[in-house]
Amino acid sequence: MSMQDSAALNARYGIPEHLSFKDAPGGLVVAEVSNAHATASIAVQGAHLMSWAPKDALPVIWLSKDAKLAPGKSIRGGVPICWPWFGPHATEAKFPGHGFARTVPWDVVDTQKLGNGATRLVFRIVHSDATRAQWPHPSELEIHMVVGPTLEIDLVTRNTSSAAITVGDALHTYFEVGDVRQAKVHGLDGCPYIDKVDGGARKQQSGSVTIAGEVDRIYLNSTADCIIDDPVLKRRIRIAKQGSASSVVWNPWIEKAEKMGDLGKDGYLHMLCVESTNADTDVASIAPGGEHHLWVRYSVEALS
Ligand code: BG6
Repeated sequence: MSMQDSAALNARYGIPEHLSFKDAPGGLVVAEVSNAHATASIAVQGAHLMSWAPKDALPVIWLSKDAKLAPGKSIRGGVPICWPWFGPHATEAKFPGHGFARTVPWDVVDTQKLGNGATRLVFRIVHSDATRAQWPHPSELEIHMVVGPTLEIDLVTRNTSSAAITVGDALHTYFEVGDVRQAKVHGLDGCPYIDKVDGGARKQQSGSVTIAGEVDRIYLNSTADCIIDDPVLKRRIRIAKQGSASSVVWNPWIEKAEKMGDLGKDGYLHMLCVESTNADTDVASIAPGGEHHLWVRYSVEALS
C-alpha cells in the first residue's frame, strides 16, 4: 500500500535529528535531510530531489524561486527523473514529455544513517492503471540516493517481464551557477550532438560548452565526467556517471523562460541543466530479469 502521509513516514522512516518528513504545499510530503556533511530535501512525489548543499557551502542544485508544488506536476528545478522515455514519446504525442516518473507518487522503501554520517534514501515508483496505460511492461523503478559530502544517485530499472524492454531515462539536474554566461562545461569536447535549437542539426562539439543564448543539445558518445566551471561562485561541479552514454545541456534563455512561467525572474542566469541521460539513440535494453543502473555522483571543488 502506498504511504504518502508525513506522520506515518516519520514513524517508519524518520531518523531523529537527521531525517524527517514534512508537509509541503499542494499536499506534497518532503523528506528533509540534515547531517554532518550536507542538507537536502526530496519530494516523495516523483522522488524529486529539490536541494542539496554540502555543509557550510552554497547550494549545488538549483530550485526555481517560482517552483510550484502540486499533485501530478513536475517541480521546476532540482533533479527531475525522466523515465521510461526521454523527451517526447516516440509514437504517442499525448503522452507526457520525459515520461511520467517525475509526476506520480513514489513510496519510501528504506532510509539509513550510514557509518560515515551520510544518509541513504530509497524510493520506489508506484505503478497504477494510469502508468500501465502508458508503459505496459512489467518493471520496477527505484532510486537510491546518498546525501553526504557528495551526492550519489542510482536510478535502477528492473525488467520483471519475460521480454526485453528498452528504456530512455535521465537525471535532469538543474545546477546552480553564479552567471550562466560565464560558466563553461568541460568533458564534451569532440562529442557529436543534436542541436534541438537548430532543427535537430547534427554537429560536433569543439572545446568547452559556453552559453550565450538558448541551448538544447543531446550529446552522444558522452561517457566522461562533465565539469561545470563557475568563475563567479569560484567552484567546479564534477558530474561523474555510469550507465549513460549521452548528456543533455539545456538552458531556455530569456524568451522560453518567460513562456514557461515557473523559472523565476532571471532564473535562466542562475541555472544550467547538465543531464546524465540515455537519450535519442542511446537507450538501455534490459533483458528479462535484468537491471539497468543510471548512476551519478556530484561533487564540488573550489576554484582558486
Ligand atoms: C530538456 C529538453 O531536457 O528538458 C528540453 O532537452 C526541454 O527540450 C527541457 O525543454 C525541459 O523540459 P520540461 O518538460 O521539464 O519543461
